Amino acid sequence: MKLLIINGPNLNLLGKREKSIYGESTFEDYFKTLQSEFPKIEFEYYQSNVEGELINKLHEVGFNYNAIVMNAGAYTHTSIGIGDAIAGIETPVIEVHISNVYAREEYRHQSLMAKNCVGIIAGMGLNSYKLAILQFLSLSK
Ligand code: DQA
Repeated sequence: MKLLIINGPNLNLLGKREKSIYGESTFEDYFKTLQSEFPKIEFEYYQSNVEGELINKLHEVGFNYNAIVMNAGAYTHTSIGIGDAIAGIETPVIEVHISNVYAREEYRHQSLMAKNCVGIIAGMGLNSYKLAILQFLSLSK
């Protein structure tokens, strides 16, 4: 299985940013854990703070990868373009969030991508990514 993890804006600051919400680990460290836990998965990781670059990445892999786990960060709540890109590609996407967005500000309660995703996992810390991967594995059986 070829699986891409995409992180959107400010997620490059994990481990430094608002640690009480997002935890102490960098994504690079967590990514290594995922790679060793799932040795059979062919992983790629991509992060950008730029909306158009995230859309370009979805287009680039969206017809040849098996699975995408995407945390679009704040663009989740604002980007019609990312939602449309997910609708336009073939690869299924699971939306993930580290924090429980529904327990936070009201503007975080809306997702403009959710309707085009397989499902959403939020509020499980970095484990949200692992749960999404497990779901993709169970769908592929
Ligand atoms: C986030 C939640 C978003 O509302 C926020 O803008 C982020 C991170 C999360 O993983 O909890 O940047 O997607």
